[in-house]
Amino acid sequence: MKIAMIGAGYVGLVSGACFADFGHSVICVDLDQSKIDALHVGKMPIFEPGLAELVRVNVAASRLSFTTDLASAASDADAIFIAVGTPSRRGDGHADLTYVFQAARDIAAAVTKPTVVVTKSTVPVGTGDEVERILREVAPDIDLTVVSNPEFLREGAAINDFKRPDRIVIGADDERARGVMRDIYRPLYLNQSPLLFTSRRTAELTKYAANAFLATKITFINEMADLCEAVGADVKDVARGIGLDNRIGSKFLHAGPGYGGSCFPKDTLALLKTAEDFETPMRIVEATVQVNDGRKRAMGRKIITAMGGDVRGKTVGLLGLTFKPNTDDMRDAPSLAIVQALLDAGATVRAFDPEGMDVARTMMPDVVYCDGPYAVAEGASAIAIVTEWNEFRALDLARLTGLMVEKRIVDLRNLYDADDMAKLGIEYECVGRPAPR
Ligand code: UDX
Repeated sequence: MKIAMIGAGYVGLVSGACFADFGHSVICVDLDQSKIDALHVGKMPIFEPGLAELVRVNVAASRLSFTTDLASAASDADAIFIAVGTPSRRGDGHADLTYVFQAARDIAAAVTKPTVVVTKSTVPVGTGDEVERILREVAPDIDLTVVSNPEFLREGAAINDFKRPDRIVIGADDERARGVMRDIYRPLYLNQSPLLFTSRRTAELTKYAANAFLATKITFINEMADLCEAVGADVKDVARGIGLDNRIGSKFLHAGPGYGGSCFPKDTLALLKTAEDFETPMRIVEATVQVNDGRKRAMGRKIITAMGGDVRGKTVGLLGLTFKPNTDDMRDAPSLAIVQALLDAGATVRAFDPEGMDVARTMMPDVVYCDGPYAVAEGASAIAIVTEWNEFRALDLARLTGLMVEKRIVDLRNLYDADDMAKLGIEYECVGRPAPR
């Protein structure tokens, strides 16, 4: 199969590299010349474990290439995937579809034969209809079919998620397109990944439903953590106690500082906009969005309270800034709200993140960036663990707290044990677990 992938961002680049690895011939297109130039010399625009190697192998095997020339890439493809960004539109939270519609226009102007056009970007219900209308308008004589094939991969685990998905959702309203999609995904469904064929609108909505449900699940356990703190119960045990029930499932029940990232915040907002447009309010999702927004700020206050309520002139060290480990992504990261709260209260903030500091520097110039967790601890009255990078799971706590002015750790990811901390004489706060007796 010849595949053109429009957009060499997270989803486009990972999907393109994985399709090439299945044996398809893939050309990734991006408007950004510097990104394409960098890819030509093996430099990845994002940090994603295993991606550089996967790209290298498939470029060497001539199955994967990169270009800024959409017209030539699209003209002889069997399937053209649209994997451009759909950020939140400034002001109203709707998904901004400018790039999707522009890609549709460019594709329509380039194609010369019947082709399947697949939206992989997360797009609101009905976007496929509009893409189809654009294609018909610009290229009325060519048989172009529009399919929705949302992507469920997670940052930091993207290649594994793509190659071993729980399911592949394909929204196609005609048989020829279903056949093309079956051929593209053959290596995966031979590998037992279920292929779920639905209508196009259903597929579009399924992606939002999945993300809103997961965001709600996280938010539920976060509120349960607050209640645990109030009544002296342990949220980790509650999560295990409910998660072993197969109907609930144990994943996405880790209490923490609130969800962030490029997907959950923007997709929950976009879903609410769709619900509003169709006069079908989704109050549970509304509550999720509100609770999560409030939680990020509340985490800053939690640190301040742990420090006795006044942090003026004191130093706080943050371990981890990205919205989750194994990424350099800072979008909607809880650390942004936490840092703001601490700076507003008059604290000095020192921080270290294994991958996120280049981006963080541009977003939070008033933070003192350090080259490791022990450097962060120097002179600090509290350390807060904000992101659960593996290298923060087995810190030398005696060395760390030996560098601090006061021995205090606020563990927003529940990585440590309260009893161990008490033995070391460290004042310890975590999320939703009682202090040791
Ligand atoms: C998410 C979806 O999982 C994925 O299917 C979709 O395609 C894109 O959005 P991603 O944003 O990469 O993926 O991250 P994910 O691992 O889902 O985590 C999202 C946020 O939730 C992070 O901030 C993470 O820290 C938080 N989280 C996750 C929790 O706080 N607790 C949990 O138990 C799980």
